[in-house]
This record gives sequence, C-alpha cells and structure tokens, in this order.
Amino acid sequence: MEQRTRTQPTASRRTFLGTSGAVAAATVLAPTVLTPSRALAQDAAKDRKGVSRGKALRVGVIGCGGRGTGAALNALEASPDCTVVALGDVFPERVAAAADALAKNGRGRGNVPEKARFTGFGCEKGVLATDCDLVILATPPGFRPQQFAAAVDAGKHVFFEKPVAVDPSGVRTVLEAAERAAKGKQCVVTGTQRRHERSYLEAIAKIREGAIGRPVAARCYWNQGGLWNKEPDPKLSEIENQVRNWLYHTWLSGDHIVEQHVHNIDVVNWAMDAHPLRCVAVGGRQARTQPQYGTIFDHFAVDFEYPEDRFAASMCRQEDGTDGRVDEIVYGTDGTMFLRSGYAEIRGRNPWKFSGANPNPYVVEHVDLQDAVRGNAAYLNEGKRIAESTMSAIMGRMAAYTGKDLEWDVAIKDPMDLVPHDLKPGPGVASKVPVPGQA
Ligand SMILES: NC(=O)c1ccc[n+]([C@@H]2O[C@H](COP(=O)([O-])OP(=O)(O)OC[C@H]3O[C@@H](n4cnc5c(N)ncnc54)[C@H](O)[C@@H]3O)[C@@H](O)[C@H]2O)c1
Repeated sequence: MEQRTRTQPTASRRTFLGTSGAVAAATVLAPTVLTPSRALAQDAAKDRKGVSRGKALRVGVIGCGGRGTGAALNALEASPDCTVVALGDVFPERVAAAADALAKNGRGRGNVPEKARFTGFGCEKGVLATDCDLVILATPPGFRPQQFAAAVDAGKHVFFEKPVAVDPSGVRTVLEAAERAAKGKQCVVTGTQRRHERSYLEAIAKIREGAIGRPVAARCYWNQGGLWNKEPDPKLSEIENQVRNWLYHTWLSGDHIVEQHVHNIDVVNWAMDAHPLRCVAVGGRQARTQPQYGTIFDHFAVDFEYPEDRFAASMCRQEDGTDGRVDEIVYGTDGTMFLRSGYAEIRGRNPWKFSGANPNPYVVEHVDLQDAVRGNAAYLNEGKRIAESTMSAIMGRMAAYTGKDLEWDVAIKDPMDLVPHDLKPGPGVASKVPVPGQA
C-alpha cells in the first residue's frame, strides 16, 4: 500500500498503514458523518458482500501519482460496477504511468482512452467536464481546496485525499464547499482511512460506550526517517520543480505535521469528539537542512488543549537514523486505549483487545463512499470533519513556526493564503525557513 520511496527503513508507512488484508461555515455545516455504530453495521454488511453493488459509477482521477493511482485501483476493487474514465495530472508522464497501471491492474475497468487524459496546470477542468460521477483528488494538498470546490460545483461526488488544505483560507474554502455538497447530496469521503478501519471503529465505539470512562488526555506520534526527494529537472520551470518535490514546500504540503501527522491528530479529535481549542508548539529543522528539503521543519511537538480541560500531546519527526513510531494512546478515567493500524487494546477496569478480520481500509473507504452514492447506505459527507482535523494540524504548525500560542478561533480566521490561484510554469513560490519569534 505504501506509495513512497523512503531513504531508510524505520517506521515505514507499509509497516503502520498497510497491515491488513483489509468561522461561520464551520458552525453551520452539519452533514451526516460515519459514526462508529453505523460504520460497524456497514462493515458487517460488507463482510457478507465484500463490495458495493448497484448503479454504474464512472470515476475521474485528478493527481495521478502513487496515491491517485492507488485510490483508483482501490475504487475498482471496491465495486464491480465502477470504471475509471478520465485522468488528469500536471505531468504527461504521470498520466501515462497511471493509464498503464490501470490498464494492467484495473480488472478490465481501467482502460482510459487518450481523449480522456488531461495534462498541465488546470487539467482538472478537463476531467470535471467529462461525464464522470465521482472524482478522486490526489494532488499535493495545496491544490485540494480549489479542486474540491471545483469538483463540488461541477456536481461530482468526491473522494479527496488528506490533508485537505495547507492554510486557514483553504480550510474555509473546504468547509464552504462541503456545505454546498451537503445541499446537493453529493457524497464526500476523505483518505483518513483509519475512520474506515475495523480496529479503529471498534475501539472508538468502546470509548463512546464508556469502556475507558471519560477520555481526558491523549498522545499521538508519527516519527520516522526521511521520505523521497526529487532532483530538480533543468527542463522544467522553478514552480514545476517545486510541484514535483512538493513534500518540502509548505505551500504545497503544509509541512509534514499537516501532510502526514494529520492521520494521528484526526484520531485524537475523533476520540475526544472535538477539535482542539488552543495549542502551544515547538519545532525546527536540525537534521534535514539542505536546500533540496525546501523550507519545512523536520520535527514538531504540540500540546493541544481540548474542551473541558482535556489535552493531547502530539509529536512528529522525519529524521533518518531515529526511532520510528506511529500510534495513538487515549487516557480515560477508567482505563487507557492503545491504538495503531490493525491493533487496539484497553488496559484498565474493562480490559479489551481487538480481534478478528481487519479488512483493508483503503478499499473499505471506497466501498463506504460508493454505497452512499448508490443509496445502499445513508448520505455520507466527511468534509467538515477532515477540514477540522487539517486545521488542527495547521494550527500546530502555525504555533511552531511563530513561537506564538494560538487559539482555534483566531487561527481559523487567519487570512493566510499560501497557494497561487493562477498557476502557470514560471518562478517558484518564495519562502524562508521559519524562525520562531521572528516568523
Ligand atoms: N491516505 C494515505 O495513507 C496516503 C498515503 C500517501 C499519500 N497520501 C496523500 O495523497 C496525496 C498525493 O500523494 P502521493 O503520494 O500520491 O504524491 P505523488 O507525488 O505521488 O502524486 C501527486 C501527483 O499530483 C500531480 N499534481 C501536482 N500538482 C497538480 C495539479 N495542480 N493538478 C493536477 N495534478 C497535479 C503530480 O504530478 C503527481 O503525479 C497527498 O495529499 C498525500 O498526503 C495519502
């Protein structure tokens, strides 16, 4: 399931993720979300049928890299009544590689004709103009708000990868578009696959039942070595090279606390049934200081405060040669819940351990989406929830970059807007390594 090339083998995404064989708008929007009990009922149904069936669905893909291609294959696995009909990516070679992979591994339903393959900045317009019913958005996160809003306004159902923005204005765009999607009954699912993973669903249901008492504190981690890095291509403009090497530019990735650690922060928000109200954070760039790593940090630690005097400690790093760890722990008044992909355990007054099948959540998320689109399950819209988890991570980054403690109500209204809206080949987006106290 891992789509990334890493420079050293500690704490790989494969180890932790691929384990199973299985301000106004924010307060107004209240779409249906996947509650644990409903999701478990849906999971039970899937154990019987394994896939979503019904109305034929046509899928378009915007961002044909590792995850876009992977998500398209997952969508095809999720339903025999689904075909991939359109592809879009800035770079022609990425579209070609995705087309080849889908033709080869797409179960006979991934053959995308040349005329439905779109390239260059703005390629999403071509995909959205096709007759696809549903789009997969898997470009670098900076583009997600604009592309999500365009997809919703084109009347499509959406699977969009996490995180869904890199700055507060992007989060607001997503919240507003998610509300429009709710009005149009367009379904929205996001790539925080733990929300569709049985071990997590059962664990959160246990927390809701009171098995650990009142959840009062949490810890969460995504510590690992470095990820891939791409040498600049001299034939391309500076901005195109930034887009190719997007992980290392905050305007594109949000920095790794947003791009990667959002998974764990999302789990803590889920367990706490709230988003944080404020935070204090530190971070820096100590191991990965060379220019090919752009201007992002290589470590962060955030102290989040939740409603009713509860708190969570969050830590993430990408530093070669360091110990790896990707998990969450939730402390309650009667016990402690330990969580990672495929594993959940309560120690305390009501001991419990997850057991049984743990179907691949990367496929289940598409079964859940397609079931909702087909009317086999209730309307599903995860837009507000992932916007809030993305904002939680952005708030942590903003506090670490500046060294200023931050309130949610202030952070979410911040005018920060990092992403150019009219992209074309040319100069890159300028940035400096943030220095707390000076940023
Ligand atoms: N849920 C998960 O476990 C998981 C795992 C990996 C990646 N992801 C997420 O998926 C997204 C993509 O990650 P990836 O690993 O596939 O990266 P990638 O670099 O392999 O793919 C991104 C693709 O988007 C294309 N692209 C860039 N800008 C574009 C634009 N404006 N319009 C169209 N195409 C554009 C790139 O050329 C590239 O092919 C990220 O948000 C990442 O965080 C999620």
